[in-house]
Amino acid sequence: MGMSFVRMTAAVGSLTGVLTMTGCARSSVAASISGAELFEACVPCHGAAGLGAPAIAGLPAWYVSAQLERFQTGVRGRHADDSEGLRMQAMSRQLRSEIETTAVARHVASLPHVSSTTAIGGGDAAAGQRAYLLCASCHGVTGSGFEAGSVPPLAGMDDWYVAAQIRKFKNGMRGTMPGDAFGPVMRAVAAPLSAEDIKEIAAYVRALSR
Ligand code: HEC
Ligand code: HEC
Repeated sequence: MGMSFVRMTAAVGSLTGVLTMTGCARSSVAASISGAELFEACVPCHGAAGLGAPAIAGLPAWYVSAQLERFQTGVRGRHADDSEGLRMQAMSRQLRSEIETTAVARHVASLPHVSSTTAIGGGDAAAGQRAYLLCASCHGVTGSGFEAGSVPPLAGMDDWYVAAQIRKFKNGMRGTMPGDAFGPVMRAVAAPLSAEDIKEIAAYVRALSR
């Protein structure tokens, strides 16, 4: 009898512990800021709809989280000449925990993806289509991306942003930091592309829809 009382007390004790822990986890989530609130800090640059400089609305949450972590650790955006990356790196550091990073990434992913709203134009999209064959092997024929390979979607991205990122991979502003598991592959892809190739590919990618 005594034994089972002890056991019962222990069981109740551990149940209370579990409940307390769950309660704690809930209240810390509730007390932390929501993704929408965290996103307020992003609005000055990315806009309320997430369509600004560069557009991030509707990017998958896994990719947004991954890039925020890459900015935070300096794998992306630490190169001295990468002024845009440096700005974003400073911003990423305002997110104080993985919970906040995940919450804001979910919010970004929930914003409707809108195909390119600002374009530099000028590239020959038909020529870009031929060059895109290589890209399709990772980014997909429709530019939808490939989560298992950590490959982001590209369809509908602003041409200037696509071109700028390819140039950054090419000139080593992106994809050269120690510990960068995914950038080097893009560096190899970007290396042989000429300025004209980049414009053509960017024009083609912009016209894709996902
Ligand atoms: C001071 C302006 C500024 C603010 C504020 C800002 N960003 Fe950025 N963000 C940028 C710039 C500029 C880039 C492009 C960086 C580059 O060229 O590599 C960028 C890039 C990104 C990217 C990478 C997009 C891609 O396709 O790879 C993500 C994701 C992102 N920002 C999310 C956020 C989130 C979430 C916030 C708010 C917590 C935020 N940004 C706040 C300027 C800003
Ligand atoms: C072998 C696979 C592979 C191939 C081929 C490839 N990519 Fe990528 N690409 C990636 C990966 C992985 C990333 C993510 C890199 C990172 O996280 O920094 C990426 C990132 C990018 C980005 C940055 C997206 C953003 O939101 O910032 C652009 C733009 C891009 N690729 C364009 C291209 C184009 C154009 C081609 C063809 C000329 C191409 N890629 C071919 C794997 C590939």
